[in-house]
Amino acid sequence: MAISSERYSTSAILLHWLIAVLLIGNIGLAWYFNTLHGPAAAAPVALHRSIGITVLLLSLARLALRLAVRPPPLPAGLAAWERWASKAVHVLFYVVMIGLPLTGWAMVSVGPHLVQTPMTLFNLIPWPAIAPLTTVPAAQVHPTHELFEAAHGLMGKLAYVLIVLHVLAALKHQLIDRDTVVGRMAPFLAR
Ligand code: HEM
Repeated sequence: MAISSERYSTSAILLHWLIAVLLIGNIGLAWYFNTLHGPAAAAPVALHRSIGITVLLLSLARLALRLAVRPPPLPAGLAAWERWASKAVHVLFYVVMIGLPLTGWAMVSVGPHLVQTPMTLFNLIPWPAIAPLTTVPAAQVHPTHELFEAAHGLMGKLAYVLIVLHVLAALKHQLIDRDTVVGRMAPFLAR
């Protein structure tokens, strides 16, 4: 693997792979619990919520780090469209990493449900509802829930597209261009 002398920081690499595993795992979990009915779905749905909030917190940390520390430069010789596409996919990834869990959290916060039966992270830490959504008028509870549910599903579809584009781009750089792009984010390499 071609390794750039300028790599992402260790914390950026750690967060990238942790978020990738949790986000893709949570998509798999959603596919799984969609096949279940009744009480059998409760535990996987609770785990999905906990993993989702974890992704939200890690993604906010990743965004703060990204704004504080500039990423290493892309190798010279990349076409303008490649630089533009890379930027667009990365920005949309932040939209998904933050918007997908936020819409999920919003969906379950609507109405009095979470006030009566509070949510916990991994059955350990109490996690609040988004307060303004708990007082939505009764007649608005169903349509508001549906709205956030549709947004959550749509962001999930955007995540599929981004993951495919991101992996195809990595494979192109690694196998066809044979440049240093992938080496900048690869784990287990000495800095
Ligand atoms: C990494 C974060 C997350 C990912 C990747 C993710 C992904 C998904 C996907 C792909 C679905 C299936 C959508 C469909 O059937 O079209 C789903 C459903 C669901 N998600 Fe998430 N989600 C995340 C975070 C959250 C969070 C934080 C919550 C709540 C706190 C949540 C609550 C739900 C619920 C309740 C459903 C079932 C919706 C239904 O079909 O009734 N999700 N999620």
